[in-house]
Amino acid sequence: MPNAVPMPADPILEVDQLSKRFGGLVAVKDISFRIRGGEILGLIGPNGSGKSTVMKLVMGIEKPNAGSVKLAGTEIAGWPTHRIARAGIGIVFQHSRPLHRQTVLENIKLALLPDSLLRLVADRSVDRTAHAIGERVGLSDVLNRRPATLPFADLRRLELAKAVARDPKVVLVDEPFAGLTAPEVAAFSELIDGFRKDGRAVLLVDHNVKSVAALVDRVLAMYLGEYVAEGTAEEVMRDETVRRVYLGGHIETHVRTKLNVHEGAPALDMRGVNVLYGKAQALDQVSLHVHEGEFVSLVGLNGAGKTTLFNAISGLVPFSGDISWNGASLRGRTPAAIARGGIVQCPESRELFGDMSVRENLDLGGQHLPTAAARAKQLDWLLELFPILSERHAQPARTLSGGEQQMLAIARALMMQPKLLILDEPTLGLAPVILEQLSKALHLLRETTPITLLLGEQNVTFALPHADRVYVLEHARIVWEGDPGRFAAEMGTGYL
Ligand SMILES: Nc1ncnc2c1ncn2[C@@H]1O[C@H](COP(=O)(O)OP(=O)(O)OP(=O)(O)O)[C@@H](O)[C@H]1O
Ligand SMILES: [Mg+2]
Repeated sequence: MPNAVPMPADPILEVDQLSKRFGGLVAVKDISFRIRGGEILGLIGPNGSGKSTVMKLVMGIEKPNAGSVKLAGTEIAGWPTHRIARAGIGIVFQHSRPLHRQTVLENIKLALLPDSLLRLVADRSVDRTAHAIGERVGLSDVLNRRPATLPFADLRRLELAKAVARDPKVVLVDEPFAGLTAPEVAAFSELIDGFRKDGRAVLLVDHNVKSVAALVDRVLAMYLGEYVAEGTAEEVMRDETVRRVYLGGHIETHVRTKLNVHEGAPALDMRGVNVLYGKAQALDQVSLHVHEGEFVSLVGLNGAGKTTLFNAISGLVPFSGDISWNGASLRGRTPAAIARGGIVQCPESRELFGDMSVRENLDLGGQHLPTAAARAKQLDWLLELFPILSERHAQPARTLSGGEQQMLAIARALMMQPKLLILDEPTLGLAPVILEQLSKALHLLRETTPITLLLGEQNVTFALPHADRVYVLEHARIVWEGDPGRFAAEMGTGYL
């Protein structure tokens, strides 16, 4: 996209030779870049390459070990975060963290007011500004709701609103597109483009390479904390190292010619399942089955009910109707008993033990395996599958990068050697090359073990290639079922 604004000569943000160590790990090494007002710099790189850490260093959330960060010519490296915020930098975090007792409008107002004293003043202009910001990011209709009741995309909008509330000169945006649908990505791209038109300097991180390339003026690629390439999106995506360590090839999208056709009684059988949250119907007469050894994909957008469906199977939410596993009803069984029966869910929210190390999280997953030898073998296999977890084995889970946490959650679920593995949005936040690895791993898993898979995804490019059968869930109901070959023709619009 061409620049709408003539570019001022001096950069607003200048980063020079920035470095950060965590113990023995160099997370960021000698990174330098400049961003002018009205310019968007994309920052790409594999999971754990240091992108979020760069943002935290600029924002003062982590203190750099070396290097310089200048905002409009003033050195700010090492300043406390609140001072950096006041000086004119705003950040949109990788994960939403609103205040849940306050309404959306109150959340925006709090972001507008720099210190607690001012919060006591019910200033009209603050109210007006907060309304204007809410309207700008598309939250007008939900200003009086509490964040907990908002759909995922609106929570992300709230983070954008908070980041720009104090009219920052520089906006740092970490993974705004993760988990959004295609139309939502388009809407968010426009909002971020709006920051550029305001004349702000924008630093954008996301694994949605296409959308990043369409939006940015330049791209900087990192790998293992270091500079790899910088240039236009096209130049950087052509770079050999970037292709090898980040983009990878492409997930094969051809549909398998030989589908596993299954007859007889299914292993998992859901019939007429309803789930109510208060008055809201989260699942409406859902019937779905999975045969032993089958790979079933459940495709649905945010809020369609995928996680609720999985939680019903795992015993985490009450339901009416029936769910049976190998002929026995799951009704009334505890989540622990269901897991012992071989159904393991890898939740979207990951549910890792943050203060425990990577290795301890994996060991917990393996504790029900019969022998130490079986545990060791499974662990070896998983560490080969996700080598980064081997390198990070002693690190507390909460300090892993977004994508590393996702890999750990998947690995921990596999550590339990499930009979039925339920994966809820496993692709969230993973670099393209890791998606490809995960895709291969699932394929291998099917070829070499008797595992049965139920995969929930809105990323159909990932969900379709290996699936034997596909269900589409929309607004709490199954609206389509069939083999993946027919999906594109019959259901493609809106998903592909
Ligand atoms: N507090 C910490 N202690 C130890 N290691 C850390 C800490 N914070 C981050 N790291 C490590 O530093 C590396 C860079 O992490 P960072 O979050 O910057 O990656 P990222 O590029 O944003 O990855 P992703 O795309 O997965 O979000 C990771 O390997 C991570 O495990
Ligand atoms: Mg990150």
